[in-house]
Amino acid sequence: MKVKVQTKSGQFDFECEQDENLLYAGLRNGLTLPYECATGTCGTCRARVKDGEPRLVWTEAPGLKFVKKEKNELLMCRSVVQGDCTLRVPAEISQLPGNKTVPDYRKGKIRNIQALTHDVISFDIDIDIPMTYEAGQFVVIEAPEVTGGRAYSMVNYDTQTNILSFVIKRKPEGDFSDWLFENNVEGLELEVFGPLGKATFHPEENKNILCIAGGSGIAGMMAIMERGCEESYFSDHKGYVFFGARTAKDMFFVDELTSFVNAYPENLEVTVALSDEGISKELEALHPNIKFDTGFVHTATSEKMAGKFENMMAYVAGPPPMVDGALRMLVVEAKLPGTDIRYDKFG
Ligand code: FES
Repeated sequence: MKVKVQTKSGQFDFECEQDENLLYAGLRNGLTLPYECATGTCGTCRARVKDGEPRLVWTEAPGLKFVKKEKNELLMCRSVVQGDCTLRVPAEISQLPGNKTVPDYRKGKIRNIQALTHDVISFDIDIDIPMTYEAGQFVVIEAPEVTGGRAYSMVNYDTQTNILSFVIKRKPEGDFSDWLFENNVEGLELEVFGPLGKATFHPEENKNILCIAGGSGIAGMMAIMERGCEESYFSDHKGYVFFGARTAKDMFFVDELTSFVNAYPENLEVTVALSDEGISKELEALHPNIKFDTGFVHTATSEKMAGKFENMMAYVAGPPPMVDGALRMLVVEAKLPGTDIRYDKFG
């Protein structure tokens, strides 16, 4: 099928398979279509149908509240095509040159599932075609038994890799996390689309790094730390990680974070902020190279980072209220420009 896209920067055409996701078809054809969550929540990928009959596949998508149905708008990331169509996309877009990595579909198998806490697990997906991605990027994972895709950031950083690593916190009424937690899913097949997302780390930008994460939002930050350490970035740049958890029992990746600090003790600092309990002497003794604080993670960041925001690139990920609090702090208190704050809207 042929899809025509009218945009602020001209008209573009791309081929799309019958019943293929419109956004993914455009992205894998190298068009820089607008998106953030890629899973139907943020509304960024809305488009107006000028011709043809693309079909919305998730009529309950939260992002539909941003769509004007009376103007025949839809969410590209939750719509499929069944014939040629023409869309109007209210954005500047461009066609990437052929040598650029574009997101695409891969088949994968779940491996190496491990419980990290009572409600957090990590696992790998072995993918059939190697993937190169930036630290901080995510993929959309679709399991045949669960309706719709879920966006998860890679914990590991690598190029041309067949293994993608993830960490997932169980969510109340989260179909995908329920499926993972309640079934023996080792070896099961999934579909992966990516890499996606712009909350990425680029050493050539030459900035100090501030990561503020809550819960499984730490995933992309781990990839950023891994790449930074691999490239000796922290031998001459500062790196600060603030990781929010409810209690000590909810913490994970503390050993991995400690090994990053141990590699660059002069310039790397990791602080774990516990929101629902105090810090025991035993906890501090167990993790002497990790700093601890109490309260919300964005409040701990604000207090500890006062006066240290110069030449900083900030990354934020976690539950929506935590992300909102951190963004407010970075803009209002730290006075960072929007170009120096990176996050992806999954929530
Ligand atoms: Fe489509 Fe977020 S709703 S990209």
